[in-house]
Amino acid sequence: MALPESFIQELKMRNDITEVISSYVNLKRRGRNMVGLCPFHGEKTPSFNVYTENGSFYCFGCGTGGDVITFIMKIENLDYIEAVKFLAQRAGMNMPENSYDNSMADLKSRIYEANRQAARYYFKMLHTSEGIDAMNYLRGRALSEKTIRHFGLGFAPAQRYSLCRHLKSLGFKDSEIVAANLAFKSKNGYGIYDRFSNRVMFPIIDLRGNVIAFGGRIMTDEKPKYLNTSDTPVFKKSANLFSLNNAKNTGSRTLILCEGYMDVIAVNQAGFENAVATLGTALTTEQAMLMKRYADEVVICYDADEAGQKATARAIEILRNAGLLIRVLTVPNGKDPDEFIRNKGDDGPAAFANILEKSGNDVEYRISKLKNSYNINTSDGKIAFLTEAVKVLSSLDNPIEQEVYVSRLAKEAGVSKEAVDLQLKKLKGRKYRENTKKEFRQLQSNLSGRDDKVNPQHYQKPRSTAAEEALIAYLVHNPDKSDKISSLLNENGIQTDFNKKLYDYFQSRIKNSLDPMLNISADFTADEVAKIIQITSSYSKSVSTEQAMMEYINTINYESEKISKDKIGQASERELMEYLKKLKEKHK
Ligand code: UTP
Ligand code: MN
Repeated sequence: MALPESFIQELKMRNDITEVISSYVNLKRRGRNMVGLCPFHGEKTPSFNVYTENGSFYCFGCGTGGDVITFIMKIENLDYIEAVKFLAQRAGMNMPENSYDNSMADLKSRIYEANRQAARYYFKMLHTSEGIDAMNYLRGRALSEKTIRHFGLGFAPAQRYSLCRHLKSLGFKDSEIVAANLAFKSKNGYGIYDRFSNRVMFPIIDLRGNVIAFGGRIMTDEKPKYLNTSDTPVFKKSANLFSLNNAKNTGSRTLILCEGYMDVIAVNQAGFENAVATLGTALTTEQAMLMKRYADEVVICYDADEAGQKATARAIEILRNAGLLIRVLTVPNGKDPDEFIRNKGDDGPAAFANILEKSGNDVEYRISKLKNSYNINTSDGKIAFLTEAVKVLSSLDNPIEQEVYVSRLAKEAGVSKEAVDLQLKKLKGRKYRENTKKEFRQLQSNLSGRDDKVNPQHYQKPRSTAAEEALIAYLVHNPDKSDKISSLLNENGIQTDFNKKLYDYFQSRIKNSLDPMLNISADFTADEVAKIIQITSSYSKSVSTEQAMMEYINTINYESEKISKDKIGQASERELMEYLKKLKEKHK
């Protein structure tokens, strides 16, 4: 069951790729294309290209590419059918009936519904006599009824069948409850039991308002302290943030990044609704790119302990690479934000506002950390400190920013600005050389095909692969040459399986008068689609002449006729004679 191509064609016509992408990425015209900063990886100079004329995009930085459907799948975290629905809705089109497989979409909507009912149930249980300890626990942590309601906090009862029984009474199937990760199948294979029991529950809500997962905290010192929903069809831990649904509506372009659920909630209660947290894992690039969509600046507000400080160093790197401005808030006296606010009682909000105000940017934070770890009253200590601090400055790529810190650092350490500058120049020279070398190696490895995951035979057959890709691009751009190409190309000329698959696919579409590229996002995997866009966009229409086409075909034919040494050993007398005859003809 596939969507009719006429529908996909209209969908793409009504959803201009440049327009769609423009609502996520700031695009500027460069020649015939549009370029911008890639929304899928952190970068400071644009390598994300949108090709308006053939409705595709490709990032030379991370190799992501595709058509408008692929773009929506990636940026909105949707599967193929959901992305098509999203675009249909955007363009005011109805989905064609009974023409696609809806089973995954159906399961997902059952999971959303089960989660929503579970959240309601937990919330209700918190307000019964059974939930009294949980309620007291939350009150003991200074949460108001308003906050509890705002976050929809709840209680999972101790009996390990409570939620299951409730959901089943609402008509949910065992398999749906298990797929939502709200329950486990019991070991003896008979029945299911609740995943969360005797815990305070924190619903995790996505940007569309769906309950996608839960965190559950035990009320004693037992372990694990928090239990989180595992990844399900509607939930990917590494791609979501707790409370981003609240934080995105504050109108501020700053987010406060905390370590835990309770920190976010306490910070919210203190009046700062722009707080978010990762979900029990270290910060990922995906999460940083997600924040970038709603913020220009992130205040890292991790725990003051060693683990928190280590995580801060990692987060600085990831957030900087995502192009975000960073400030670091260090909570005094080794506490986490929640404890800090709670300990201050009624003064909590003002006290937090104060440390927030005072938080310095990431460079200041890193330099002050260094300063604390060396004794700069000794000359050895001073030299070591300066050397390390200059390393921090050399990682900045804004020259004005650098200049400011050079002056400040010189003053702080009591040395001349020239001395700091000189050291910085030395380091930058080395860094530049290292980067150039790295880029060169990367290029070399790309050309050799060593990293080509989609076409693993690329590495063994670099010459034919290159010609095959060029020919495929030529074919897509010049469908009128389809017959000519078939007649000139050796029957088994194409050597690599992936390119053979592509070639046959495009030839067959062209022979059936179909737009060759129209349906790639349905017919290939995400990685394959990216590869197709890479191939077809790197040989543009204007440079592909018929003469070039002949060269590609000749190369492919020649490469396919080469007999490798071990093959010669196995060949029969007759095969060898035939081969020699062919060679002779070639050289005439
Ligand atoms: P912390 O151990 O710092 O807890 O974990 P916390 O946020 O201060 O929690 P309270 O104040 O004791 O209630 C930080 C975050 O790491 C994840 C949770 O998301 C938690 O909020 N975590 C922690 C887990 O997922 N599992 C655990 O067992 C512990
Ligand atoms: Mn805490």
